[in-house]
Amino acid sequence: MDHLRSADWYDGQDRNAYIHRAWMRRGLPDSALDSTRPQIAIANTASDLTPCNMHLNEVADAVKQGIWEAGGVPYNLPVVSLGETQVKPTAMLWRNMAAMAIEEMLRANPIDGVVLLGGCDKTIPALLMAAASVNLPAVVVPGGPMLTGTFRGTALGCGTDVWRLSEEVRGGALSQQDFTRSESSMIRSKGHCNTMGTASTMAVVAEALGMTIPGFAGIPAPDARLLSMSHETGRLIVDMVAQDRRPSDVMTREAFLNAIVAVAVVGGSTNAVLHLLAIAGRLGVDLTLEDFDEVGRGVPLLVNLQPSGEFLMDDLHRAGGVLAALAQVRELFRPEAITVTGAPLVDHLADNPVFDPTVIRPRDEPLMVDAGIAVLRGNLAPRGAIIKPAAASAELLHHRGPAVVFDSIEDLRARIDDPDLEVTADSVLVLRGCGPRGYPGMPEVGNMPLPRKLLEQGVRDMVRISDARMSGTAYGTVVLHVAPEAAAGGALALVRTGDEIELDVAARRLHLDVPDAELAARSATAASTAAYAAPVRGWERLYVDHVQQADTGVDLDFLVGSSGDTIHRESH
Ligand code: FES
Repeated sequence: MDHLRSADWYDGQDRNAYIHRAWMRRGLPDSALDSTRPQIAIANTASDLTPCNMHLNEVADAVKQGIWEAGGVPYNLPVVSLGETQVKPTAMLWRNMAAMAIEEMLRANPIDGVVLLGGCDKTIPALLMAAASVNLPAVVVPGGPMLTGTFRGTALGCGTDVWRLSEEVRGGALSQQDFTRSESSMIRSKGHCNTMGTASTMAVVAEALGMTIPGFAGIPAPDARLLSMSHETGRLIVDMVAQDRRPSDVMTREAFLNAIVAVAVVGGSTNAVLHLLAIAGRLGVDLTLEDFDEVGRGVPLLVNLQPSGEFLMDDLHRAGGVLAALAQVRELFRPEAITVTGAPLVDHLADNPVFDPTVIRPRDEPLMVDAGIAVLRGNLAPRGAIIKPAAASAELLHHRGPAVVFDSIEDLRARIDDPDLEVTADSVLVLRGCGPRGYPGMPEVGNMPLPRKLLEQGVRDMVRISDARMSGTAYGTVVLHVAPEAAAGGALALVRTGDEIELDVAARRLHLDVPDAELAARSATAASTAAYAAPVRGWERLYVDHVQQADTGVDLDFLVGSSGDTIHRESH
């Protein structure tokens, strides 16, 4: 790069340059602010209230060392952080707020490049959305999964085993006391959830998009190699500034298609669909729901991790790591998509042996032959809905049954265990009012708990349909992201208990078996199913007024696209 952006702050003898330099010196050597030294922000989502990212200040120090070593000047930039397990009413309500705040701080400050430190579910998506809209050279450091915790000799998968054990308590197979005892074993070390949940998935996605040093995703948080890779990333970002290699050069349409393949191979979270659509929207990349279905179709599930399989992220790393898994299907990746290194992703997939084929299955012995996320359409979801076949019960992928409808998550909690609830194993549980606008924020409640009386009969899965999301650590025959959502006039608002619904995943069909004329009549009298009054102020107000539907990634309409890195005015 001939002219560093930061020179617009620091170069010259006028009053503005004086002010910018003088306030930043504070012990920096004179050379730090000259016009040849790339100024690098470390967008750091470390927070004591984001437990999965608590360790990122230590990681930032390693990145800083690499930046200094390569001739750049590092700056820690704490940014909005979201602890998935902590923030209410749901972290997804705040993803776009975090992305908007990060975007503005990257643009407003005198920086030439940025290292993005994330981990917990929403943090890497928000960072990537922001970096895409500013389009300064950027690279991701994934914070890494935690080590495997065990309870009474059995490995515990974060999230997945919480769902499983809590259902066992409700079904009477586990005591409340033992459930509580398992709590202190669940989180063994620093790092994010160790299942192939959303955090692990988004680290894999970042790598498949080309936005990490290849081989970085999946290194456990306590592993010393996380720090050495972080150091290398610090060196790399300085070179990326010199090469003027930007997110738009790396995250091309081909890179997004590579990410879709990777999500299928690892059995990744359905949340990846929303996040990839949103990131693509920031870049102007033409990515649609159909791409997920078409590109993911026929891609085998090779990574045997919870919730689709049995192992955890530490096992995946031991077995060869993410690259070893992707290398099994190397020919499915678009060769033209480059990474932050400048070399194509496929170049990094050569020579990646598998050390444990029970964790990373051979190509000809997959866990599932066709693991792509399926996109469903029909009168119940004219703009689409999705299901993750890898997490579903094979016998339910084609199913017809009567609906049992819940108008909100509170309605479901109040009635699901009622012994008088008219429900059988063949029923289809329908939950509405949980979409982006209706909740608001699209919570991870799509994997509705099963009725207690059915659990006690041994039922372990049912067809469930909603406009909500599902935790990446969850499982079941769960249809998600129905668009339009009920609160936006979707047909989901018109379903009545007892209506027959047909799910046919092979035919990609989701059908409400009610005549069109009857639906039109219901539509004329339908009341809003929103469970909450419309927010009157603050972020929620902005969000509800501008949020888009699941089929385009749930971004705000005015945040789609890019504003670049240019700042035109100066206030001093
Ligand atoms: Fe942070 Fe699962 S709660 S990654």
